[in-house]
Amino acid sequence: MDIQTVGIIGAGTMGNGIAQACAVVGIPVVMVDISDEAVQKGVATVAGSLDRLIKKDKLTAAEKDRALALIKTSTRYEDLAGAQLVIEAATENLALKTRILQQADALLPPETLIASNTSSISITKLAAATQRADRFIGMHFFNPVPMMALVEVITALQTSEATHDAVKALAVRLGKTPISVKNAPGFVVNRILVPMINEAFFVLAEGTATAEDIDEGMKLGCNQPIGPLALADMIGLDVILAVLEVYLAEFNDPKYRPAQLLREMVAAGRLGRKTRRGVYSY
Ligand SMILES: NC(=O)c1ccc[n+]([C@@H]2O[C@H](COP(=O)([O-])OP(=O)(O)OC[C@H]3O[C@@H](n4cnc5c(N)ncnc54)[C@H](O)[C@@H]3O)[C@@H](O)[C@H]2O)c1
Repeated sequence: MDIQTVGIIGAGTMGNGIAQACAVVGIPVVMVDISDEAVQKGVATVAGSLDRLIKKDKLTAAEKDRALALIKTSTRYEDLAGAQLVIEAATENLALKTRILQQADALLPPETLIASNTSSISITKLAAATQRADRFIGMHFFNPVPMMALVEVITALQTSEATHDAVKALAVRLGKTPISVKNAPGFVVNRILVPMINEAFFVLAEGTATAEDIDEGMKLGCNQPIGPLALADMIGLDVILAVLEVYLAEFNDPKYRPAQLLREMVAAGRLGRKTRRGVYSY
């Protein structure tokens, strides 16, 4: 399957990042959202991001213009019909994604591949909601998409090898490094990362070390660019807690039980940077 044009559903943080990643390597994109305002905001975000690359001498003004010209926008799924791969990057909600995917499935040519960028919903379950489960896959980009090198390529139980190979090849064309993952809660990276962050809350609550020293330890001792508690503040403590609750339910394994301190901080509304107070104050 030769992917010449990529369709994207959702022009938010991830959708516009994926659009940028495609456009800068010369792949035409059709980006769809629910309103003109949403798609225009997505395009403006890409333009701003490209301007920052120009300032850093990583892109020329002509390359920016060429990339922006490759991004078409629409509010109609019908306009995705010319794409060989459609990547769904809409709001994280099972009912919403199921509805979007069923609508797209009914409209798109049968050979079109569909991928979801979901962080937490089962790819196998989403594949089963379509009539093309063998041509359905997970493509989990990381935020910010233009900067982050990894794409987890997640095969559902039903995904064909041809679909996997085509999507992996596209990730390489985008300048990313794909890893192949079988569908499971948290895939690979978040499955390992989130319990590590949870463990940092246990260590903090036990008084073993201060937050600053825990973060310094993990930065200097494990070469992590940011400590786990500072990272929790960036991601949002509510998000970390919700993810742990999913692992606890899905794996039915007590090793995923959230630290009580994490629960307390979420209950207090100390969610991290977005509320200007989490483990640290901002
Ligand atoms: N933000 C992250 O760090 C991150 C990282 C990896 C994966 N993800 C996943 O990517 C997906 C998108 O997340 P985001 O952070 O970009 O969210 P976001 O809120 O920034 O953007 C979501 C967009 O989807 C649009 N949308 C909602 N309903 C729609 C519909 N019916 N049709 C078309 N568009 C619709 C919204 O208008 C919005 O613009 C989620 O599944 C999320 O789990 C997010």
